[in-house]
Amino acid sequence: MTRHRSPWQRTHTCGELTAAHDGQDVVLNGWIENHRHHGQVLFLDLRDRYGITQIVADQEAQGADGTLFATLQRLGAEDVVSVGGRVRRRAADKANKNRSTGEIELLALSVTVLSEAETPPFEILDKAEANEELRMQYRYLDLRRRPLQEALMKRAKFVTSIRNFMQEHRFIDIETPILTKSTPEGARDYLVPSRVHPGKFFALPQSPQIFKQLCMVGGLDRYYQIARCFRDEDLRSDRQPEFTQIDLEMSFVEEHDVLDIVEAMVIRGFKEGFGIDLQQPFPRFDYQEAMDKYGCDKPDLRFGMTLIDCTEHAKSSDFKVFQGAVASGGIVKGMCAVGGAEKFSRKGIDELTAFVTGLGAKGLAWAKVTSNGVEGSIAKFYEGDKGAALIAHMGAKAGDLLLFVADQKRVVHKALSDLRLKVGTLLGLRDPKVFRCCWVLNFPMFEWNDEKGRWQFAHNPFSAPVDWNVGDFAQDTESIRSRAYDFVMNGWELGSGSIRIHRPELQARVFEFLGISKDQQKANFGFLLDAYRYGGPPHGGIALGVDRLCTLALGREGIRDVIAFPKTSTAFDLMAEAPSSVSVEQLAELHIASTAKTQD
Ligand code: AMO
Ligand code: AMP
Repeated sequence: MTRHRSPWQRTHTCGELTAAHDGQDVVLNGWIENHRHHGQVLFLDLRDRYGITQIVADQEAQGADGTLFATLQRLGAEDVVSVGGRVRRRAADKANKNRSTGEIELLALSVTVLSEAETPPFEILDKAEANEELRMQYRYLDLRRRPLQEALMKRAKFVTSIRNFMQEHRFIDIETPILTKSTPEGARDYLVPSRVHPGKFFALPQSPQIFKQLCMVGGLDRYYQIARCFRDEDLRSDRQPEFTQIDLEMSFVEEHDVLDIVEAMVIRGFKEGFGIDLQQPFPRFDYQEAMDKYGCDKPDLRFGMTLIDCTEHAKSSDFKVFQGAVASGGIVKGMCAVGGAEKFSRKGIDELTAFVTGLGAKGLAWAKVTSNGVEGSIAKFYEGDKGAALIAHMGAKAGDLLLFVADQKRVVHKALSDLRLKVGTLLGLRDPKVFRCCWVLNFPMFEWNDEKGRWQFAHNPFSAPVDWNVGDFAQDTESIRSRAYDFVMNGWELGSGSIRIHRPELQARVFEFLGISKDQQKANFGFLLDAYRYGGPPHGGIALGVDRLCTLALGREGIRDVIAFPKTSTAFDLMAEAPSSVSVEQLAELHIASTAKTQD
């Protein structure tokens, strides 16, 4: 059956025509981008999401009803038109190499205005010049910009690739509830009042965590979902109140089973979605090793400059700062910025010092390595053999810059891990087109919350301890490790997961240690604890942030650049103006009265 096409409807897209179409009669539909007069000749750029085609007409061109040129001349930016015409190959010197359609132009023979546009509040340019608020308010116009369209198209390709992969590996795509109960991912919940259950609320899921574990108890064995999650937390450029995870869970597995399959999935998705070949295998670090080498649990592996422990060296040094830190239970660590001696002037080093003191360090000790030893703030304590020993310990050579911080371990790690990234950036070692992935395993099970004055779970309360037989969680709490792991790329945490606790008594003990009473356990997680009493398989899984993955792969600034309709940093939708107030009647129906001072 041949499909009927109305005369105004396109025969081709605006990104499709090449010299091979020379002489053909075609119809294009799109938005007017550009309007240029060259004497008697008019040039128009017609845009759709596939590309841009140049339309030409000269004053002689009258069309069937004699109005063609006049109509074309009247067209304004963003008018939606249908243009019929003949494809004409451009002279070689007139070709535009930057466009897929650059070899041709369309000689207009007819035009139909499908929709007239008012002057838009900002020009639709590849490189956005209007401020972001205005662009978010008119997001549908911003969506016409090529970089945004490209991001959304690639994101879709990536997600499709992931879906295909999961399907091929026996994962079942299962939808879990959006109207549900609070899940413990550590953020505040978005609540939805119930009309039929007065005074009761649903929570929007912070993740499908509990349901995916229940899928395992349900015998579904391999679950996945491209899942929307909702978290009411302070926003940053890598966080949105609603975001998307590739969420998965597997039964009868150990860490390496999850890591292996996710590694293969990410490699395939990056290749098919973004055309990026990732370097394999992804190194796997023990949490402790990552902290020791990089001072943080999400190392950027695009460059070296790892942290080197100098505590032993410091003990024998005459430098009071080093000695003092060690004497009060602290450590001394340093790093070697290869070729940094020339790059960093005295002023540059002062800036680095200000940077680390801003992070809580007391100062930055430094030394430039020369062919004769070291120069700089600590040089007088490291003359002769001592200097040579330090250079050897740091693996340095002439022209390198050594940087040290002495303090309590937590301060040293914070200061040096951030400094490592800063110096890496300044030395041009963090190319956004280079991608390096790794895994970090065996995170601490609990972390101390200073504000609340108690221990809290580090990942989520369902992560199993490395040692199944761990006795008392209160003993040596800090050193208890869990079977939680993170997936890290270029210094970004892109995914987190764990092998779970599948035995109800152990789960109950963890809840108890976290100060969750028996009654609270029953009220919040009773169904999960009950489920385990009927045969829970050993299981584990992970969730990867799709928005962050795409942002990084596409080299964008923040996750808003890969989301069609994002919210502002105050969790507001400027276009729809949501959240908004509702009528008193609506509230009454929901058994709610607002205590807010203003409703608008
Ligand atoms: P977690 O809370 O670590 O784990 O989240 C997993 C990944 O989701 C992404 N992410 C976000 N992306 C954008 N905006 C946010 N506000 C945001 N919060 C998180 C990150 C993060 O690595 N249920 C567990 C997973 C599991 O154990 O299987 C979970 O949600 O990329
Ligand atoms: P001072 O003896 O205070 O003049 O410091 C000498 C050098 O040591 C300066 O470069 C300081 O920035 C640096 N410094 C001071 N305290 C520390 C510290 N805790 N760790 C590393 N360097 C430090």
